[in-house]
Amino acid sequence: MKRLNKAKLPRHIAIIMDGNGRWARKHSLKRIAGHKKGAEAVRKVVKTSGEIGIQYLTLYAFSVENWRRPEDEINALMSLLEEFLVSELREMLDTDIRLRTIGDITKLPEQTRKILLNTIEQTSHNSGMTLNLALSYGGRDEMVEAVKKIILDKESGRIRSEEITKELFSEYLYTADIPDPDLLIRTSGEYRLSNFLLWQSAYTELCFIDILWPDFTGEYLIDIIADYQNRERRFGMISDQLP
Ligand code: IPE
Ligand code: IPE
Ligand code: MG
Repeated sequence: MKRLNKAKLPRHIAIIMDGNGRWARKHSLKRIAGHKKGAEAVRKVVKTSGEIGIQYLTLYAFSVENWRRPEDEINALMSLLEEFLVSELREMLDTDIRLRTIGDITKLPEQTRKILLNTIEQTSHNSGMTLNLALSYGGRDEMVEAVKKIILDKESGRIRSEEITKELFSEYLYTADIPDPDLLIRTSGEYRLSNFLLWQSAYTELCFIDILWPDFTGEYLIDIIADYQNRERRFGMISDQLP
């Protein structure tokens, strides 16, 4: 961790955890075994992120499109999520991690949602890293929902058209009180966003790594952050204008 510049840490890291199924196939196992192994990688990465001092870690755990998968895989993923939440509660309390979610969690099975809401509540007073799980999340859905809420607020006179700005729009998204991601990582060698944080990643640094998610470790994360720290984020300006 010595090689990281503490003054230039990404405040918010978002990860598309991809490749569990291919990891399982590679090891002649069922897809579910890949997801199990993937959950272990989640534990490691959460731990390392907290230790480094990352403030927000958003993990894409289940997309709106993932509802199209076979029912038994969906059920297994929900069970794994429940197990993760129950087994990690102690660790989250000990390491000051606050859990929250983005996505339409009303779509989750009742039991899963109950455990989730309970974990969010129990960790709500923590002030260390925010672990943000994207569950039943879709970037386009998020934006459409935001538009609907803005229209309602406009109709009821709570906001005026002139007040609708980029900043106001951001406040209507699931990520309202979370800064945009500085760094977005996708594992497994796929080069796409798959409907993840479309609005929020307008100026995010992207990293695509050819490692299957179950093989991902805190060491890879540190390497990626070190690489991020060597990048120049110009936001449309030229080098000379930067501090
Ligand atoms: C990511 O791994 C986990 C989820 C999407 C829930 P995949 O299950 O997509 O793994 P591949 O892409 O089939 O290898
Ligand atoms: C994206 O992975 C969603 C998550 C990692 C939860 P997918 O594996 O579902 O993405 P596509 O459908 O192959 O793009
Ligand atoms: Mg995949």
